[in-house]
Amino acid sequence: MEKKYLIIGNWKMYKTPSQSTDLVNEIAQFKCPDKVKLGISPPFTNLCPISKALKNSSIVLGAQNMYCAKEGAFTGEISPQMLQDLNVHYVIIGHSERRSIFKESNALIHQKVKVAQDFQLIPILCVGETLEERQAGQEKAIVEEQISSALEGISSALVIAYEPVWAIGTGQTATPEIAQEMHGFIRNLLKEQFPKDGESIHILYGGSMKPNNAAELLRQADISGGLIGSASLVPKDFMAIAQSV
Ligand code: PGA
Repeated sequence: MEKKYLIIGNWKMYKTPSQSTDLVNEIAQFKCPDKVKLGISPPFTNLCPISKALKNSSIVLGAQNMYCAKEGAFTGEISPQMLQDLNVHYVIIGHSERRSIFKESNALIHQKVKVAQDFQLIPILCVGETLEERQAGQEKAIVEEQISSALEGISSALVIAYEPVWAIGTGQTATPEIAQEMHGFIRNLLKEQFPKDGESIHILYGGSMKPNNAAELLRQADISGGLIGSASLVPKDFMAIAQSV
């Protein structure tokens, strides 16, 4: 079976709503290989204009976070129902910046994954170890804990993003060997939990994926896409990554 890829741009807290439509229109002008599904995860404020701009496009929309309730007195939060209404398809959950800066726990992340699925959103669960954890030889234990806690009682309609924290925004990409080793480990965990679908769940690599290293990473057996931060804000770089498959 031909390998299919998922490439998602994580814009983080960059671009205003008015800047975002120009950027999206520029991205949409590039040709994307048939075996690649392309997605963009802009800030919440940009979802509405981008949803309109992408109306007739094959590019899908993702959010960067959500709260785990349909609605309610949760000042400052965004609900899965609101995302659904804007044709959002994916939602990034448990990004390392959410875990470290906003102190999101494995328990909260589990709730978010569960509620995202309840609203037919596909969670992109982010996992990954810090440099200290890797130096202490704990990378697999950490990732296993992040995955097993988040996936309790969850269906296979999800995506995993392995993002070693030491590679995010640092320009220090994991080597293809290190990345594949962790992706293979994650693949086995998924196959244990989902004997039928574990093989086909997307496992994205994230952490300084760029046009000059994407092809080699994406060629690895268990890497089927990327979660792209800074390079996704430069249309020609983002599309060079998609075209490198
Ligand atoms: P980066 O970010 O590509 O800028 O390293 C990736 C991410 O945080 O998802």
